[in-house]
Amino acid sequence: MTGHGRGLLMTANFTATYLFWKWLHIVAVIAWMAGILYLYRLLIYHSERGQAEPSTHQLLSLMEMRLYRYITVPAMLVAVSAGLTMVAIAPGLARTGWFGTKFALVMFLILVTLYAGKLHRDGATDPGKLPASRTLRILNEVPTFLMLLIVGLVVFKPF
Ligand code: HEM
Repeated sequence: MTGHGRGLLMTANFTATYLFWKWLHIVAVIAWMAGILYLYRLLIYHSERGQAEPSTHQLLSLMEMRLYRYITVPAMLVAVSAGLTMVAIAPGLARTGWFGTKFALVMFLILVTLYAGKLHRDGATDPGKLPASRTLRILNEVPTFLMLLIVGLVVFKPF
């Protein structure tokens, strides 16, 4: 890129610093989504098999705990922090319609993530406390749906 071209792009949203946070944001979002989608799947297996098979119950409790505590929650914290850092660098973002809507949907996604943690803790204590697998299958679609909407908002920026 020519010096002139680079100069044109050097608005707040294209500085190397801003792009660094965006890079981190996207990578963390990928890990968060992988974690939350897989966690609900594990909870479905747990609900279906946990009571009848004590060894499966133990294994799934351990897998859920590691996935939640060491991948999903840290990735969520990094994604949110990197996102807010971009807003701090380019405050105009906070006044756009798409961002406000995205932010509200992200709040739901955070709740859905924390709720998976609560379900995991309930299931680890007693697999009989887990909701029926059918309910979990429906619940499992919520983060998928939110992800489709959120990514749609940041990519298309419709308003
Ligand atoms: C509080 C949480 C979040 C905040 C504050 C936030 C903020 C931001 C900001 C400021 C950008 C840069 C937009 C631009 O430069 O045009 C961005 C990009 C992006 N965000 Fe988020 N975000 C959050 C959560 C999420 C979540 C949960 C997802 C996905 C499920 C997500 C997906 C993306 C994607 C894919 C981009 C890249 C879009 C592009 O470069 O065109 N974000 N986010």
